[in-house]
Amino acid sequence: MDFSAVSSALKTIGELTQEVTSLWGVDEQVEGLASELRWMQSFLKVADGIKVDNELIRTSVVEIRELAYDAEDVIETFSLKVASKRKGGFSNCIKRSACFLKEGCLLHQIKSEIEKITAKIKELTRQLKTYDVSKFGVDGEGPSSSTERRVSRRSYPHVMDDNIVGLGKDIKKLVPVLLDEQSECRVISICGMGGLGKTTLAKKIYHESQVVGHFKHLAWAYVSQNCQERKVWEDILSDLNILSEADKKMKVEKLSEKLSSFLEKNKCLVILDDIWNTEVWDNLKPAFSARETKSKILLTSRNKEIISHADKNGFLYELQCLNYEQSWELFQKIAIPPTNSPGYKIDAKMTELGEDMVKHCAGLPLAIIILGGILATKYPSLTEWLKVSANVKSYLNNDKGEVLRDVLALSYDDLPPYLRPCFLYLSHFPEDYEIPADRLIQLWIAEGIVSSKQEGDEGQIAEDVAEGHLLELAERCMIQVRERDIATLKIRSFQMHDLMRDVCLSKGKQQKFLYIADQSNAASYPLLGGFVEFLHTNFFGYSALKVRAFDHFCSSISLYRGRKRTIFCH
Ligand SMILES: Nc1ncnc2c1ncn2[C@@H]1O[C@H](COP(=O)(O)OP(=O)(O)OP(=O)(O)O)[C@@H](O)[C@H]1O
Ligand SMILES: [Mg+2]
Repeated sequence: MDFSAVSSALKTIGELTQEVTSLWGVDEQVEGLASELRWMQSFLKVADGIKVDNELIRTSVVEIRELAYDAEDVIETFSLKVASKRKGGFSNCIKRSACFLKEGCLLHQIKSEIEKITAKIKELTRQLKTYDVSKFGVDGEGPSSSTERRVSRRSYPHVMDDNIVGLGKDIKKLVPVLLDEQSECRVISICGMGGLGKTTLAKKIYHESQVVGHFKHLAWAYVSQNCQERKVWEDILSDLNILSEADKKMKVEKLSEKLSSFLEKNKCLVILDDIWNTEVWDNLKPAFSARETKSKILLTSRNKEIISHADKNGFLYELQCLNYEQSWELFQKIAIPPTNSPGYKIDAKMTELGEDMVKHCAGLPLAIIILGGILATKYPSLTEWLKVSANVKSYLNNDKGEVLRDVLALSYDDLPPYLRPCFLYLSHFPEDYEIPADRLIQLWIAEGIVSSKQEGDEGQIAEDVAEGHLLELAERCMIQVRERDIATLKIRSFQMHDLMRDVCLSKGKQQKFLYIADQSNAASYPLLGGFVEFLHTNFFGYSALKVRAFDHFCSSISLYRGRKRTIFCH
């Protein structure tokens, strides 16, 4: 459950009452609203800590988020339109008397809006008071202890690629097929379910010395569901160092001819990551049609059918799940912090719990690292591990095929409240997008999702708090670090696994954290009917820009319902 919006509204109210010279006229209403919000916040905090799952509470949370955001909007409007104008001396007084009537109307309007919101919150409060959440017991070891552990672990952040296990056997099988110049086989496909490690294996092969030595050129392209041939071909031409400015304006057919002819004459390895279905392959194949060539195509896909469709002499490699020993090895690498003392081990009870939890992951690497990530933030508390273990049992006791979905859901539910809006905010970024950490941190702060912390004498500025949050998401394996600063180990850029992004999008939509507007529902969102202002489009390389019809720019946009209304295009 999420009470971030309530906290955010409370914070805004707190800040504004200090900022504005006077709340004269609405102070009573604002105080009434703040006290309702405070009750709601503590209620949700308790309910969240003990994971009360109840239909009424769930729908109330969605409603309270909306009401809290509305409250923020109204208070901010008051601050901008009324309170700020009250500052100033005598000259302002003359101007102000002219505006007195207008101000009076506005004041009246704001007053009644606050009262309406407060009444709605009161009604919700009344319903929720029927639930005595305290009888479930309140969690004593809350986020503060986890914060301490996080701080103590900051010097040992794990970089995902160092943690790879197994794959030796797979590489041994695949590399000879790739290097075989006599065979008719042109296309090799690594298949298996989502999160099994297909991309990880393809990456290993891409860096394998024998492979690098054999092929004259190597290229990598991420394909995905919303594949655009032009983008894929341009990416490959760019990796092959033959993409010119003129090519970018060239007709798409010419681009594929250029690529096809280069692949025919030069010994290249092209990796196409994540081919969704045979139609996607059909769209891309004109560039890979050369037969008399020593070039090879390695693709990864969840779909077994593609290989027979792509090449009748093609080679299908079905990647297997990790065996138990490999699963346990991977789990330990993630869940247990590295330490300077050799022979560092967890105690027998924790080992037993860990082994049992790993078994539930059925050898799926993504499930293992996410579970390990959850436990890493709770190390070395046996009590915390026991709690996660109980959750694993309740989340993963049904359908074996749904292991991954359940572990991903658990990883979200296990997030402490302050990390949830940070995580949900990531849903705005396009699939497979390498997110620059510094830009994200600026956005988090600008949106009021992260702010400075005052704990005793040791305050932390907002940037430091945000960096800590990002590290914690990485430690939980909910994001994949791409680049770190060598000296400070700070995250410079990261990505999100597509399956984790799906969770992020669905939770964001469910909690009304964001709206996704695409061609199908554009008309229903009032903003899209007229001018759309892309507040953060400079993030994607455009400067401030206004468009009437968003379909020229993007296939979908997401709208973040926060302090400001932020719009991202995908
Ligand atoms: N053998 C392994 N050892 C350690 N970690 C692994 C291994 N295989 C996969 N992982 C980790 O699991 C995560 C998912 O792997 P990957 O992205 O390769 O899966 P995938 O099969 O390509 O999934 P999708 O079908 O969604 O593209 C990655 O973060 C990766 O680091
Ligand atoms: Mg993949």
